[in-house]
Amino acid sequence: MSAERTLVLVKPDGVRRGLVGEIVSRLEGKGLALVALELRTLEKSVAETHYGEHASKPFFGELVEFITSGPLVALVVEGPRAIEGVRGLMGVTDPVKAVPGSIRGDFALEIGENLVHGSDSPESAKREIDLFFPGLG
Ligand code: PPS
Repeated sequence: MSAERTLVLVKPDGVRRGLVGEIVSRLEGKGLALVALELRTLEKSVAETHYGEHASKPFFGELVEFITSGPLVALVVEGPRAIEGVRGLMGVTDPVKAVPGSIRGDFALEIGENLVHGSDSPESAKREIDLFFPGLG
């Protein structure tokens, strides 16, 4: 299968807790190639665009507040079935239900502070990559 790209965010809780190296190491260890990497603090408007599909959810305000609360690390990684591969490394959204061995399963407890984001489909990956790194999607 040809290489696929996906957007990964090490969210502000991951940066605050010093887990960037651990998370990037897991991505690299899996065999994913780093295509882009940047430390940045998101503007509210960018956060609202990124999470636009969740605008009607009750937790939307909290989600935007959290993701803009400090610097995050945005990455584009590439590899065969990268989208699915990253989602597997991350574990499910609720860290308490995420299996041990996954990033959320090993390091997080709260759904609102679950350390990482990974695109969930090729369409989302293209949209999200182009929002963070124009032209790379
Ligand atoms: S849903 O409802 O199935 O669409 O939710 P999901 O795709 O699992 O989650 C979408 C993103 O919202 C975050 N999330 C939350 N944040 C705060 N509080 C609550 N209760 C909550 N539920 C879900 C979740 O971490 C997802 O963020 P990303 O960055 O995409 O992982």
